[in-house]
Amino acid sequence: MKDIDETITRRDFFSLVGWGGIAATFGGSAYSFYKFYFPNVLYETQKVFKIGKPSDYPEGLSEKWKKERQVWVVRNERGIYVMISICRHLGCTPNWFQDKQAFLCPCHGSIFSIEGNVLGGPSPRLLWRAAIKIDPTDGQIVVDFNHRQDPDPVSTEQGLRVDEASREVEPFFLNV
Ligand code: FES
Repeated sequence: MKDIDETITRRDFFSLVGWGGIAATFGGSAYSFYKFYFPNVLYETQKVFKIGKPSDYPEGLSEKWKKERQVWVVRNERGIYVMISICRHLGCTPNWFQDKQAFLCPCHGSIFSIEGNVLGGPSPRLLWRAAIKIDPTDGQIVVDFNHRQDPDPVSTEQGLRVDEASREVEPFFLNV
């Protein structure tokens, strides 16, 4: 009786191993199939986005979207422009100092004016401005983060700069 029990147990064991192997093979194939047709989705930050209406921005600098969207919104006496908060030296994020009326980059000390001109430090280029327009359906400002204004600056005693009027053109400026 004992021999029979042992034989059955051994047979059951091998049967289990066999079916387990087959199940693992099919399971692996099914998983590969699933991953092939339903791959992980990589969600990138949206590069075209809305930032509210022009009336939301009084004269001066707004840092409302700096953290979430990496942009500053500036209204001067003529209209609005949106500047990208990426230092043109090595890509750090400058900080705005109200008392100095300037952006200072914490990495290597570049200094930018509120217009984006370089007032000091190693930055070889001005701050970018992003393309903007008004959405006719809801009146909000639409920012295209990837479409950037990058004029050639002139070196002066005050640093690298461009004539402001030449920067205040569509689609990088809204006369609103
Ligand atoms: S990254 Fe801004 S000064 Fe170097």
